[in-house]
Amino acid sequence: MIDFKENVNSNQKTTEETRQQMSFLGQAKELVKERSERRGYPLTFHVTTFGCQMNARDSEKLTGMLLAAGYVEKETEDADFVIYNTCTVRENANNKVYGRLGYLHGYKKQNPQMKIALCGCMMQEDVVVSKIKQSYPFVDLIFGTHNIYKFPELLVSVLESESQIVDIWKEHGDIVEDLPSVRKYPFKSGVNIMYGCNNFCTYCIVPYVRGRERSRQPRDILRECERLVKDGVVEIMLLGQNVNSYGKTLQQEISFADLLKEVATIPDLQRIRFMTSHPRDLSDELIEVMASYKNICPHLHLPLQSGSDTMLAAMNRHYTKAHYLSLVDRLRAAIPDITLTTDIIVGFPKETEKEFAETLSFAEQIRFYEIHVFKYSRRRGTPADRDPDQVPEPIKGVRSDTLLELTAKQSKEFRARRIGKETEVLFEEEKEYEGRRYWIGHTREYVLVAMRSVESLENRILPVVPTEFLTGEVLLARTADSVL
Ligand code: SAH
Ligand code: SF4
Ligand code: F3S
Repeated sequence: MIDFKENVNSNQKTTEETRQQMSFLGQAKELVKERSERRGYPLTFHVTTFGCQMNARDSEKLTGMLLAAGYVEKETEDADFVIYNTCTVRENANNKVYGRLGYLHGYKKQNPQMKIALCGCMMQEDVVVSKIKQSYPFVDLIFGTHNIYKFPELLVSVLESESQIVDIWKEHGDIVEDLPSVRKYPFKSGVNIMYGCNNFCTYCIVPYVRGRERSRQPRDILRECERLVKDGVVEIMLLGQNVNSYGKTLQQEISFADLLKEVATIPDLQRIRFMTSHPRDLSDELIEVMASYKNICPHLHLPLQSGSDTMLAAMNRHYTKAHYLSLVDRLRAAIPDITLTTDIIVGFPKETEKEFAETLSFAEQIRFYEIHVFKYSRRRGTPADRDPDQVPEPIKGVRSDTLLELTAKQSKEFRARRIGKETEVLFEEEKEYEGRRYWIGHTREYVLVAMRSVESLENRILPVVPTEFLTGEVLLARTADSVL
């Protein structure tokens, strides 16, 4: 499913760039073909993704370009071209990459033709690149988040060279449209609406590694969505670090609510999701749009980070607990069946027992469907890292466990309330639980549901009735009477 798109985007400069990269892709294809023929079987590749939806979408672009260059995808990492698309939002994301590079070296010793590439957010940090240059000389290519669209050019260089190539840009360039891309799923897709972030929450490294906020042109976004729907996609997730500030960098006056309305009117688009929303910028207009269009899913991921006003101020979040609560009230009044999920950080510098207790009781009061709990992780160069009053790791551990216990209990109660009620599921893939195979998918509220079926349910949206828990996280369902 490679998407070769006609070059009709609005910006002359980026159209020229697309043309150049397509020409490098042609050169890469020649090189790959020659090597495959010499060897007698095709060259293979594997892309491993760490981190968020943004990275997942970038990996689809890299995969699209490698397929267009003639490589064949392989499930395992013993391939001829391996890319690690990295994340650095927390230290443990970083450590995973170093840990696995050792394995890759083992593969490379068996296959000297193998090329190893590292890209993504971690590579935007100087210390990481120095460490790799010094301790991992077998890595062939290092590039960052700003020059992914130059990948065809880098691919040609790496195929023609034996030395390590490093190409990291400090600043972002133009948004380049229309390069090949693939989709992991035939029926759902992420669509970037903006890149970067300007919020500088004091704990967060994303603004440093993803650069300043910039929005894509609405016509480019709509064109991509329309094309996806024509191609069979029924669910689209609009992606950005802070989708609620969409449009601020564009000349045309347009808000995220305006864009969402446009996307929601695309014929045959069944489901729309978006992430991430920042509570500061969530407008009443957006709530109204969410409530007015049936194809906008009643699910909102609204990161709270902390339930203490002192902590929220120290985190530079620009909202209070009272503001968050009023948003929740307005959302629930307008969209009664909405599910709310969130992110919470525990053990931020200076967080006391009292402040943590406030977060815990606030979370209990809101009744989130799911809470992603993160132990605060020090990120080099961020203001919170310079705070001398860091919370000891064991305390972070206890707070994290306490909050996880609450969320497990509340999620279970939430799922239990769905038992016996007809709901609509988009079935995505087959999965095994305790030796039996099930089709699994999400409801519009993002509840995971499984159903037994001998015929394939992939890509089908069906009314079902959850009957019991299959596991703590998954509900087992039967077909609704309405379709029998
Ligand atoms: N742009 C999104 C979040 C991106 S990062 C937003 O603003 O909501 C995803 C989550 O990782 C954040 O919501 C936060 O909870 C967590 N996170 C970010 N930096 C972190 C750090 N240094 N330590 C622990 N968790 C962090
Ligand atoms: Fe990080 Fe805050 Fe930007 Fe989210 S909004 S990416 S948490 S700086
Ligand atoms: Fe990680 Fe980069 Fe996303 S740091 S969370 S992959 S934007």
